[in-house]
Amino acid sequence: MQSQYSEAVIASMTLIFGDGFLSPGGEDEVKRIIQSQTGATNLAGRKVLDWGCGLGGTALALAHKCHADDVLGIDIEAGNIQLAKALVNRYGCSSQNAFQLVDPGPMPLAEDFADVIFTKEALCHIADKAPVFADFQRVLRPGGVFIGSDWMTGSEISNSEAYRAWEDQLRSAGLSFTFVSMTAHRDGLEAAGFEQVEIIDDTAWTLEHGEGYVNRLEGPDRPRMLELLGEDGLAGLIVRCSARVDALRNGDLRRCHMRARKPGPS
Ligand SMILES: C[S@@+](CC[C@H](N)C(=O)[O-])C[C@H]1O[C@@H](n2cnc3c(N)ncnc32)[C@H](O)[C@@H]1O
Repeated sequence: MQSQYSEAVIASMTLIFGDGFLSPGGEDEVKRIIQSQTGATNLAGRKVLDWGCGLGGTALALAHKCHADDVLGIDIEAGNIQLAKALVNRYGCSSQNAFQLVDPGPMPLAEDFADVIFTKEALCHIADKAPVFADFQRVLRPGGVFIGSDWMTGSEISNSEAYRAWEDQLRSAGLSFTFVSMTAHRDGLEAAGFEQVEIIDDTAWTLEHGEGYVNRLEGPDRPRMLELLGEDGLAGLIVRCSARVDALRNGDLRRCHMRARKPGPS
């Protein structure tokens, strides 16, 4: 499988997003996602699965910032899993964090494995999300909770110039994502059997951060980014990040927090 996360991409993303992160907000945002839901989930004593854990920053934050005792991060990219293990060693973390390389498709995990499934900006890689939501149901224990965040579209078909420009930029950079609407996420989770589904629009926060990232690329981070990506690479990244800001501002692109519950006793 062709990796979407080359060394240079990882180095530039972690410069912007923070050590161990391939998505906005760092560990404070992981905490916001956990806390922003109605009836914020207390992770102490819970077994948490971090689906699409990337470089391990989210899993580390779930343990250290959100007090989960036992976090398993899974990902389909061997290089990311390796870096996640190295991150945990670097920060001197304990047995709270484990990581496992998996194949795309049903997870090699038993039914009722997790109390909480967390995911951050990983579902957007999946074209057909229905089998993934069904597998979340299988792996969550009854009464367990799915919590996460992702990029979504505001409506079913986003035809705005700003949105299309951003998608074109991603495609021409060889990046593969499938963005679907907030409604499609809600319907998909409900169809898989989840209840109390909440899709919470966090676009305002994301827009503010997105604008900040563009300013940094054009300002203080420029010299290091030039070393990592070269003139053309950095110019392409700035175009993509600016297109994303335009699409967020225009409202066709959203970033949302999600929460859903598997029926059963709490
Ligand atoms: C944008 S990164 C986000 C990583 C991490 N959650 C973060 O916020 O820093 C998306 C991650 O999802 C992983 N991924 C994509 N498809 C997956 C799948 N079917 N199962 C597990 N992980 C997957 C990718 O390899 C990548 O590491």
